Amino acid sequence: MIFVKNLASVSDQEWSTTEKYPGVRWKFLVDADFNGSKGLSCGFAEVLPGGNLTLHHHAPDEIYVVTHGSATLNKSGELEEIKKGDVVYIQGDASHALKNDSNETFGFYWIFPTDRFKDVEYLSDVDHN
Ligand code: NI
Repeated sequence: MIFVKNLASVSDQEWSTTEKYPGVRWKFLVDADFNGSKGLSCGFAEVLPGGNLTLHHHAPDEIYVVTHGSATLNKSGELEEIKKGDVVYIQGDASHALKNDSNETFGFYWIFPTDRFKDVEYLSDVDHN
């Protein structure tokens, strides 16, 4: 199986959101639940100005490929500014977060070594109480 996806080809797919991650929205591009693909999955996410993908971890390793904007990456407590063109490797179970304090949307692809996004259990490292 070989196929090509892009944001235009999933224009009829609703953006996904969660109140856990304000100002963050995403779409699925390569995912067993959508394409019958396996082994790897990929989606595209945006962190809008002021948005916050708060501190979390998950068992699978993850890669980000930044396509536009800039944001503050939290690397288990150490902060680093990342921007378009950067790629980020996140080891499984490492706490990480993305915060966009700019006035431009931050966009990135994520890649997981899982058949589907739903196989990734997001565990929060933030106390919401
Ligand atoms: Ni993650």
